[in-house]
Amino acid sequence: MSVSFPAGKRAVVAKGLNKRFKTGRTYIEVLKDVDFDALHGDVTMVMGPSGSGKSTLVACLSGLLRPDAGKVEALSVDLWGGPDGRPKGLSAGKLDRFRLDNCGFIFQGFNLFPALSALQQVTTVLKYQGHSPDKARAMAVTALEEVGLGKRMNQKPAELSGGEKQRVAIARALAKQPKLLFADEPTSALDGENGQVVTRLLHRAAKEHGAAVICVTHDPRLETFADRVIHIEDGRILDDRRVTSASTTVSSDRPLIGA
Ligand SMILES: Nc1ncnc2c1ncn2[C@@H]1O[C@H](COP(=O)(O)OP(=O)(O)OP(=O)(O)O)[C@@H](O)[C@H]1O
Ligand SMILES: [Mg+2]
Repeated sequence: MSVSFPAGKRAVVAKGLNKRFKTGRTYIEVLKDVDFDALHGDVTMVMGPSGSGKSTLVACLSGLLRPDAGKVEALSVDLWGGPDGRPKGLSAGKLDRFRLDNCGFIFQGFNLFPALSALQQVTTVLKYQGHSPDKARAMAVTALEEVGLGKRMNQKPAELSGGEKQRVAIARALAKQPKLLFADEPTSALDGENGQVVTRLLHRAAKEHGAAVICVTHDPRLETFADRVIHIEDGRILDDRRVTSASTTVSSDRPLIGA
């Protein structure tokens, strides 16, 4: 089965995102009026210094963290709603379902289940998505082989190296062919060769399946595959540069939020 989505169409649009955290008695402003969009078929890279708000931005865009202000439309769904009588956005349960159906995540901490083997980590998600056990197993095996873990499928996280754990998390995210793929430092624990494998897989998710790949990274290996590089500093987007021409012209059938 191969799912694809129209390249060049906006997959995520965020407007005026603000997020602050309370630390002790003061607040720190982590996102300051951030506007963001990402297209199907693009690898969009988000770069910036430690603490600049990259992971917070990804969490708001993917339905994991409610912003204090602003809007996120992901796949034309208003995730958070707006103030003053505007729609309320999705309930917690609907947000969970939205992520399960549409989003792949590769996170800094891997988020693997300690008791499950590599194969089970991947099949579990696919079964939740509604695939039969046999189909889920076949998809999981393919995804694990693609990240070079064909011989490690029955090992649990404690029996895997850091790089292998990272590759399990990547296989789990890619196996369901998500429309939106959020990656936060996906190659940080990988050597040159495995870093290249993962970079190519992220690129393929965008180019062959039309996923919108949003990738936080400092890794120059990934920059060579990026279509667009966005720099964020101190909660603000400073620079937004397209480094390849868009695969198709940006569709104009959906207006920017609030426009
Ligand atoms: N739950 C929280 N409570 C309080 N402060 C937080 C919380 N989450 C993040 N922060 C603060 O918000 C700022 C931005 O954090 P964020 O994780 O988005 O940074 P980042 O750009 O991803 O950094 P890194 O490159 O180190 O991963 C940091 O100063 C961090 O300490
Ligand atoms: Mg981070």
